[in-house]
Amino acid sequence: MNPSTFDAIKPWLNFFHPLLMWGLLAIMVYALYLGGKVRQIRSADPETRKALIKAKVKDKHHQVGSIILVLMVLGNIGGMAVTYINNGKLFVGPHLLAGLGMTGMIAIATALTPYMQKGQNWARVSHIGLNVGLLGLFAWQAVTGMEILQRILNSMFAA
Ligand code: HEM
Ligand code: HEM
Repeated sequence: MNPSTFDAIKPWLNFFHPLLMWGLLAIMVYALYLGGKVRQIRSADPETRKALIKAKVKDKHHQVGSIILVLMVLGNIGGMAVTYINNGKLFVGPHLLAGLGMTGMIAIATALTPYMQKGQNWARVSHIGLNVGLLGLFAWQAVTGMEILQRILNSMFAA
């Protein structure tokens, strides 16, 4: 790419990761809702059960889950890439460390799929625990991420 073209798009790169991650948070809240419905299938009365199976909540949850896995891994790599492009280094701070930890956690949560499908309760409990933990860490990432964004905006307008 022509260096001047790259210089022109470079400032906009800073907004891509935060926007993507806010979108990911919304998708994760939807997955939580669908996961609750999947769980309900086992305890619901026959009518509700039938309706939930017809609504394909299991398939939907699994599909939304796959999107979450991809967006979290690529979003994390993207955040690191943009930071490196802009600063020539990474900042080993809370946002980077929590982000890497979250990416590891999502790998474990999704790897439990075959065990959950066999009905193993330990896998379900671990899956839910890891994902609820991820939502908690996400709140932290949103706060530290917005602080980083604020600093970037301040230096953009100061320049
Ligand atoms: C915020 C993220 C997520 C939350 C809160 C969540 C929550 C849940 C819950 C509550 C269940 C029901 C467990 C039960 O039946 O007791 C479940 C099942 C399941 N989840 Fe997730 N999940 C999330 C992300 C994912 C991801 C990323 C994947 C993988 C691609 C995934 C794949 C599955 C599968 C395959 C099941 C089993 C469905 C079945 O019984 O066939 N989930 N999840
Ligand atoms: C709404 C939530 C989030 C916001 C607002 C946000 C914001 C940011 C910003 C502004 C940067 C600087 C790079 C850039 O300009 O693009 C950044 C870097 C980064 N983000 Fe996020 N982020 C969020 C969520 C996440 C999540 C969920 C993860 C991981 C799963 C993550 C992982 C990273 C990593 C690893 C870096 C590189 C940090 C460094 O080396 O200093 N972020 N983030």
